[in-house]
Amino acid sequence: MRTALASALILNALSCVAVAAPAVHTTRDPHSYANPEAVRVEHADLALDVDFDARRLSGAVDLRVRRADPQARELVLDTRDLVIRKIWLVDGKQLTPLEFQLDPRDPILGSALRIALPVPPVPAQPDASPAAPGDAATVRISYQTKPQASGLQWLPPELTAGKRHPFLFTQSQAIHARSWIPLQDTPQVRMTYRAEVHAPRGLTAVMGAARLKSTHKSAQDDEFDFEMRQPIPSYLMALGVGELEFRPLGARTGVYAEPSVVDAAQREFADTESMLEASEKLYGPYRWERYDLLILPPSFPFGGMENPRLSFITPTVIAGDKSLTALIAHELAHSWSGNLVTNASWGDMWLNEGFTVFLERQIMETLYGERRRGMEDVLGLQSLREDFASLEDRDELLTPDLRGRDPDEAFSQVPYEKGYLFLRWLESRLGREKFAAFLRAWFAEHSFQSADTGQFLDFLDRKLLGQNPGRATREQLQAWLTRPSLPADAVLPSSNALRLVDAQRREWQEGRRPAAGLDTAAWSTHEWQHFIDNLPKKLSAAQLGELDRAFHFTDAGNARIAHSWLRVAIRNHYEPALPRLESYLVGIGRRILIKPLYEDLMATDWGKDFARRVYAKARPGYHPLAAAALDPIVLGKAPPQS
Ligand code: BES
Ligand code: ZN
Repeated sequence: MRTALASALILNALSCVAVAAPAVHTTRDPHSYANPEAVRVEHADLALDVDFDARRLSGAVDLRVRRADPQARELVLDTRDLVIRKIWLVDGKQLTPLEFQLDPRDPILGSALRIALPVPPVPAQPDASPAAPGDAATVRISYQTKPQASGLQWLPPELTAGKRHPFLFTQSQAIHARSWIPLQDTPQVRMTYRAEVHAPRGLTAVMGAARLKSTHKSAQDDEFDFEMRQPIPSYLMALGVGELEFRPLGARTGVYAEPSVVDAAQREFADTESMLEASEKLYGPYRWERYDLLILPPSFPFGGMENPRLSFITPTVIAGDKSLTALIAHELAHSWSGNLVTNASWGDMWLNEGFTVFLERQIMETLYGERRRGMEDVLGLQSLREDFASLEDRDELLTPDLRGRDPDEAFSQVPYEKGYLFLRWLESRLGREKFAAFLRAWFAEHSFQSADTGQFLDFLDRKLLGQNPGRATREQLQAWLTRPSLPADAVLPSSNALRLVDAQRREWQEGRRPAAGLDTAAWSTHEWQHFIDNLPKKLSAAQLGELDRAFHFTDAGNARIAHSWLRVAIRNHYEPALPRLESYLVGIGRRILIKPLYEDLMATDWGKDFARRVYAKARPGYHPLAAAALDPIVLGKAPPQS
């Protein structure tokens, strides 16, 4: 059930529709202890040593803070599992130790770090802008991470493509930046940063920031310097360290990957520059200068992560035929929806993800046409329906109340595909042109700011609905925003291409054609996925064998296809696929490609032991976030607490 407060907020915002709208104030972020309303971090200077043996980042961060409330005596930061060594006030060359306290650890939020600030006036910084309100100060925190940091994955060489060097990468969204940097870990605070990263010789460090220079420091160490001039929220803080090479994709785009992967990545993602150009035409200038990709080892727990200037990408989308590059369109689109205009808290995530799916599909249509877009729309809807089948009502809402909950645990397709369908519905009511102009204005007028759903509704009313009366009623908007499932008048996508696939499947099912005789020569991943996902629930061993002989599903190198097939195999206890299922689960750590398989296995009698045995083998290679999502499923318990 939605809480009274949250519904009041939405209703209040809805009541603005078509009447003069009072400004709606951003809600407090329930996933942060920080106190930006009193003291706000505006810039960070990081100096970090990367120690693979100890699985530790160690160093210091200088936070430039500005006091918004002259009475503020305390700077509150978010941390989780950090060792805080010492804290000082920095004034030029002079360091004054500051008192601090690390609160007890909350299992979801971590520990608030409370730093006592001297009574004002805090020494003003020479570089503080005179126009900015409040006084500024710099606070230096010397700290190190713990090996179990939830936002870091330390990979031994054998879990990389090259198998010779270790690899480290961060994943800060949603609330994991605090496990590797003490900061105000809320999307309501933006900061610029500089960083100096020391990494073992032979490895390359990259960040979601501009590269300044790299220097050979000693026989063991290299130093990499970065600068992020555009202010970003903490969940976009990103670092990767590994044996990396770079290949250009276009004038502003390129790809970093391990040497054995980089050429395939360059071919697969060759259209990235065109995607960037198409996006700019649709949504306005790209504000981040460069757009590069970092291809991670297969344990990366997501498909992609929109780290600014440098999206992090799973290698499982290197299919060889560019069939899974919607992921790149998606992460690129976040350069507008999410990175430029940011959800004010995780309960408003549809503002990031629903908008981004909308942009992604439009970019895909621009580059590859309506046929491909239609297929991706329909596959998206099917994944939403599958989630609806298992979600509680409260998790089917576009703006769920996440207070007291872990945002990772509430993850589903709802903010993505339901958010997308809401925007498509609005587009259908107002026309493509008007809606596109509205989106451009939304990005232009909220650049480098956060926004919540109330602000969106307010803006919608002022810019679109007010001028176009009768296109969307308050009740209709309310149905989208405050009810589970989809409203009856949602505009659902359809795809002729996938209908043809259905016809082929029926031919086979009804015994009119053998599998080997179906017209599948021109099928891409989309058609195959649709074909497999909609097979009858129960199939005989003979039928499975026939499909496998005709299409080699068990040996599919394409992870998307393998995933769909392995679910069929589990459902029907198809033994010939079990060795492949095992190597798949050990080899891939992308959460949405493994979690359903473990769930399916645990739902069968025979599969439980199989799942537990394979999980024991695979778990050391999984990211902490993937392990945290899988422990309750396979081990039947919450993740171990430190
Ligand atoms: N920002 C998300 C990934 C994310 C979401 C990380 C929530 C942590 C918490 C990213 O943009 C994303 O949506 N990735 C999708 C791919 C996409 C094509 C739907 C994924 O990883 O599957
Ligand atoms: Zn996304």
